[in-house]
Amino acid sequence: MGTSSETAIFSTGSRIGALLREFDWSRSPLGNPQNWAAELKTTLSMLLRAEAQIVLFWGPEFVALYNDAYAPTIGDKHPRALGRPAKESWSELWDDLEPLLRSVRDTGRTFSSKDRPFYIERHGFGETVYFDVSYSAVPDGDGGVGGVLCIVSETTERVRAEAALRDSEARLRDLNEKLEQRVMERSRELERAHVALRQAQKMEAVGQLTGGIAHDFNNLLQGITGSLDLIRRKPDDAGRVSRWAEAGLKAADRGGRLAGQLLAFSRTQKLDIASIDISSALAGFADTLRRTIGPSIDLRMDLDTDGVFAKGDRTQLELAVLNLALNARDAMPGGGELFIAARRCRLTGEPDLQDGDYVELSVKDSGTGMSAEVAERAFEPFFTTKDVGKGNGLGLSQVYGTLHQSGGAVRIESAPGTGTTVRLYLRRTEIQPRRAEELSVPADLAPAATVLIVDDDPDVRTFLTDSLETLGYSSVVAEDGASALKVVERIAPAAVILDFAMPGMNGAEVAKRARQTRPDLPIIFASGYSETAALTPVQESKHSRMLHKPFKVGELQSALAELLARPD
Ligand SMILES: Nc1ncnc2c1ncn2[C@@H]1O[C@H](COP(=O)(O)OP(=O)(O)OP(=O)(O)O)[C@@H](O)[C@H]1O
Ligand SMILES: [Mg+2]
Repeated sequence: MGTSSETAIFSTGSRIGALLREFDWSRSPLGNPQNWAAELKTTLSMLLRAEAQIVLFWGPEFVALYNDAYAPTIGDKHPRALGRPAKESWSELWDDLEPLLRSVRDTGRTFSSKDRPFYIERHGFGETVYFDVSYSAVPDGDGGVGGVLCIVSETTERVRAEAALRDSEARLRDLNEKLEQRVMERSRELERAHVALRQAQKMEAVGQLTGGIAHDFNNLLQGITGSLDLIRRKPDDAGRVSRWAEAGLKAADRGGRLAGQLLAFSRTQKLDIASIDISSALAGFADTLRRTIGPSIDLRMDLDTDGVFAKGDRTQLELAVLNLALNARDAMPGGGELFIAARRCRLTGEPDLQDGDYVELSVKDSGTGMSAEVAERAFEPFFTTKDVGKGNGLGLSQVYGTLHQSGGAVRIESAPGTGTTVRLYLRRTEIQPRRAEELSVPADLAPAATVLIVDDDPDVRTFLTDSLETLGYSSVVAEDGASALKVVERIAPAAVILDFAMPGMNGAEVAKRARQTRPDLPIIFASGYSETAALTPVQESKHSRMLHKPFKVGELQSALAELLARPD
């Protein structure tokens, strides 16, 4: 117990001040307060009054003296720690704390740190807590260091809250990434499902279409076989035979047209691109058109293209115009007007068209017109808005294919209720068209000419032999390329009708070899479909013609006449 003057330093009104006044100083290394250094007394009375968390470690044993604000930070170490060497009370962190205190004591240099972690046991368990700390030296009266004054501020709560926040942010980010990944996975799954669905829809459409075409072909075949059968039964009934033959040929025509459209759609048909006299082609075609669209539609033509030639395949162009007329007819069930016009024009800067001179062929109807969605898809193969059996969706794709293959283009202008105008652009050319229809078999040449038929199909050979006989030619046949070449050498035929697709040597090969000995040998290629690239070099010779199966005797006649009439 000290005297009242000695205990005056503890009379600060603080709880710890009261404890210290009652303190048994004989238990403390600091000894009786009346012998304390003046610096210790001053510092202690200052810290007891302060509201900041302050602990003073005095002397070489770092005896702890602290204030009311500091006491809670050490939990159940208080009041045991008061007035005792720090090592006793802070034993669990002494290895950490001692070097800090010692360094301040030895060097006099202040140590400070923010959010400094300390491992402490203060509530019956160990935990890591955080403090902003400032440890500074308190001088003794002799120029040395008497103690270490620690002003601290516990930041554990904030540090833990920040850590928790960072943690949940990280978890959120993680979750987000996982979520993104899940969304991506789901989207990919969805995309796969869509692809599968589209594929299934396509297959279904192809299935329906094949069914539709098979149905159409069956009807055509019915017409053909029916007529032939009738002819066989009553071959002597001349009047009816020619009517039956006519009906059979008409059915075959329709079949040929349908096959042509399928081929144009598959873009593999070899077009016979040449110069076309637009006006005469259209004028010559007007009757066919009129018959096709029927009397309820008024057909007018305005052809301002006399003497103008354009590049294209005449048969395909006629088919294209026919397809447009059929569409127009379907769009005008109650009748209407169909207006076909041709004029010269010069185009520059048009998408997918070279700058230059063109013929514009427009086909305009006063029908229902098309919505934007229909117009956009109209050229798509198999796109149709018509009922099963009414349309295959191939008409416009034939138009598109033909125009593009001959360096032209096609455009649609249409809106619901305002009718439709389809414009075809064909490249102009100065080259004179061939005039096959005006040529005829020269009377003196025909009987002498022998034509070599090369085809692996016996029915085709028979048809060709009979046709040539009808036309006044004699014929020899060969079943394959190798024997054909022998015949060419042996009898020097006037012309060759050459199938393209044959086992062994194909038509192009045969033609090439035959022309090695006879460069000007007239050759007619008979093609069932698309022997395209391989055929081009031999076929483009002026001594060649191309006939698409099925062809008629008349077409064979024209081709032969043309080739054999050449002066060179
Ligand atoms: N002149 C037109 N007026 C209104 N709609 C048209 C016209 N031409 C084409 N269409 C629309 O475009 C679609 C596709 O035409 P496209 O000629 O390719 O096929 P389709 O006429 O339906 O069948 P297909 O020609 O094979 O018999 C038509 O089903 C129709 O909806
Ligand atoms: Mg059509």
